[in-house]
Amino acid sequence: MEEISIKTPVMFSQTYIDVTEINKLMNIKTGDRILTVAASGTHALEKLLANPEEIIAVDLHVEQLYLAKLQAEGMRQLTREEFCRFVGINRRSTQPLERVSIYNTICGNLDTKTKEFWDANIASIEMGIWYIGRLEMTIVLLGHKIFSSIHDKNTTAEFLALGDDMKKQIEFFETIWNTSSWRRAYKDIRVQGSKILKKSVIPANTDYGQACLDQFDKSIRNVPNNKNHLLQFLLTEDVGRNGLLPPYLREGNYELIKSRLGRIQWIQADIVKYIADNIEQHQPKFDGINLSTVVHHFSGPQLQYLIQNAAKASNPGAKLVYYNLPRVEAVVPDEVWDGAKLRKDEANDWGNADSIYFKTVSATVL
Ligand SMILES: C[S@@+](CC[C@H](N)C(=O)[O-])C[C@H]1O[C@@H](n2cnc3c(N)ncnc32)[C@H](O)[C@@H]1O
Repeated sequence: MEEISIKTPVMFSQTYIDVTEINKLMNIKTGDRILTVAASGTHALEKLLANPEEIIAVDLHVEQLYLAKLQAEGMRQLTREEFCRFVGINRRSTQPLERVSIYNTICGNLDTKTKEFWDANIASIEMGIWYIGRLEMTIVLLGHKIFSSIHDKNTTAEFLALGDDMKKQIEFFETIWNTSSWRRAYKDIRVQGSKILKKSVIPANTDYGQACLDQFDKSIRNVPNNKNHLLQFLLTEDVGRNGLLPPYLREGNYELIKSRLGRIQWIQADIVKYIADNIEQHQPKFDGINLSTVVHHFSGPQLQYLIQNAAKASNPGAKLVYYNLPRVEAVVPDEVWDGAKLRKDEANDWGNADSIYFKTVSATVL
């Protein structure tokens, strides 16, 4: 299979989970103080929909924060329609240079470092910042080419439109979509995509491609395709077809988030250290912590330290959430929870909080 060699400073430019479902799972309420991993920024932006008072969004990698801050500034200054064109919704309907002109209207308010970064990466602005992550480029460059050779445009369109009748969707999946070529291609692409992740993220004994395929299968059996914006990007290398948008870009949500942007603080930090410092400095406790996929980077005592501190830094009743692949769940072994003032929640039935890519795990602080 073709290898990828892509030079892009950003690792992840999209969000692979429906954060509105995560908000429900975390039971985020008016007035809450929430800690989250920033990633592309969308995690924090979409959490504003649940009306928390304060969101601290931290990321280890400064490029992720440059992206997050550009998104937040774009939302602050642009109408929903302008912002969608800027980030690359229905990407082929906007000229790359138009995105640069939009950038030029907003960049004056970015902090110096963020502006310098984007000025030096104008090609990323031209492309649409939704597509510039190394992970997304893997899917766009390789995935689409291969997937479209397995299922033609019409079959893909038909598949994406399903969902009003789940029985029909599952039947279509089983009889038309889920061929051996599709399964092989999907596994290959996901394994390619995983090469940009740190080795430690995937345990050595895990068949990562198969775990991804199982998760995809489960998603198709449980989530209507016509409500699944993540599926649309995967299969069409575009977003926004028939108005299906990620939650923060939907009418009403966009304006609400825009009015609450001042509640987010973007901080470059290792979340492990950030939580430990929060405890040591007797900072106010959190009402919820979203560790995203960060738990995958740790094991043994390090992981226990993170989980126990996350519980200590939170108020009773707060939720701690992270995502992983079902088969990779062993990364957080049960003994890690021992000694933490925390109760792991029962695994919920499949819901929209579990996406094509991840399964969510939550725990309640005691
Ligand atoms: C896989 S991405 C999250 C993707 C996310 N699940 C989504 O759907 O958007 C994980 C993020 O965690 C950040 N990260 C990794 N280790 C970290 C750490 N120790 N502290 C803070 N952020 C970290 C990475 O820079 C990246 O932005």
